[in-house]
Amino acid sequence: MDIAVAGAGYVGLVTAACLAEKGHRVACVDVDIEKVMLLQRGMSPIYEPGLEELVRKNRERLRFTTDYAAAYRRADVIIIAVGTPEERDGSVNLRYVWEAAKQIARTVEKDCVVAVKSTVPVGTGDELARWIAEYRKHPVHIEVVANPEFLSQGTAVNDTLYASRIVLGVESPHAEKVMREVYDPFALPYVVTDRKSAEMIKYASNVFLALKISYINDIANLCEIVDADIEAVAEGMGMDPRIGPRFLRAGIGYGGSCFPKDTKALCHLASRCGYELKTVRAAIDVNEKQKLKLIEKARTYIGDFHGREAAVLGLTFKPGTDDIREAPALANIAVLLEEGANVKVWDPVGMDNVKRIFAENLTYCATIEEAIANADLCFIFTEWPEIRQFDLCQYAALMKTPLVFDGRNCYDLESARKAGILYESIGRKQ
Ligand code: UGA
Repeated sequence: MDIAVAGAGYVGLVTAACLAEKGHRVACVDVDIEKVMLLQRGMSPIYEPGLEELVRKNRERLRFTTDYAAAYRRADVIIIAVGTPEERDGSVNLRYVWEAAKQIARTVEKDCVVAVKSTVPVGTGDELARWIAEYRKHPVHIEVVANPEFLSQGTAVNDTLYASRIVLGVESPHAEKVMREVYDPFALPYVVTDRKSAEMIKYASNVFLALKISYINDIANLCEIVDADIEAVAEGMGMDPRIGPRFLRAGIGYGGSCFPKDTKALCHLASRCGYELKTVRAAIDVNEKQKLKLIEKARTYIGDFHGREAAVLGLTFKPGTDDIREAPALANIAVLLEEGANVKVWDPVGMDNVKRIFAENLTYCATIEEAIANADLCFIFTEWPEIRQFDLCQYAALMKTPLVFDGRNCYDLESARKAGILYESIGRKQ
């Protein structure tokens, strides 16, 4: 099939590369000329394991362009995978989705299906369908399908090639048939429903995972008070197949471009309809507090941060990505700087992005050793393998005081004790 993908961000780019891998001819469209030129040279503008290889391998079937008209004109399917950023009030900014819809309406010259992969509020697909039908330039039939995406950053290629399900929100048998042609080569299970339900599946899934994380973090905080161990608790809970073991890792809260935004967007949608999603509000509140939990713990040890040398290991919102959007590390660094600490940071891939925010206010270190040398205290915010495998004795050897606050439970307590460090983590027995 001839498929056009609008947007070469995480979702668009990975989708385009995976569709090409499965034999489709794909044109990936983006407004950013530099990004397109980089991709034309076989280089990925984002750090995502396996993606660059996939782009290079499928060069013959995968092209990158800024010329949307040429890409959309005769496509069988156009996939909208543009960003849907958050507005100040928690609602979703659909500017880029509407921009793509306008370009589609202006250019499409044959019947086609428009699949919306961007995360959009329930009802957006219906609105787009009405609008495109009214304003299309040529007398063609354009169907709109909701086709949400469930890939995670860091494992995006695998998540797409071996997805748990393909969700299709369709309003006609024809649209379903066309979308099955797109995805049949993946041999994955389908969930076929109406457009609004498909849009809701996306939000309900992400928000459920966010709730699971906030719940385990809440329980972890209680474990600390009653002297129980969150890891044993999570293991014991996760063996129940009704609960499942995943997304029960306690820590300093969820970040990234999805959970923080989608939880707020669903609350916003509900309140617009006069309904209050109390569980989701609670999950958001727990997450906000959890982010600064280690800062509060550190205060009990050293009073205030003025003039202290603080090391920060891990800046991205999770390992396997250079994305720092809503990363808990950022909120913590802001507090440390505001209170007068000298902050040295280390991350294997996230430092360039952090430089754009904190510029010269931080010291950027090439190694973990450099970051912790002579530090009064050290924070861990991302569980990178380099941090997990770091020799604990080095904290004791290199830091002024070996005070380590670990927001991702990277080390076992016994090893920390043996290494002679003062180690605080989340929800574990001391
Ligand atoms: C999330 C969903 O997992 C994907 O299914 C979805 O497609 C994606 O959002 C999206 O909507 O685009 P992602 O944001 O890439 O994916 O990352 P996750 O692996 O879900 O992690 C999100 C945050 O939760 C991270 O900060 C991570 O550290 C935290 N987390 C995750 C925990 O604190 N504990 C856990 O047990 C799991």
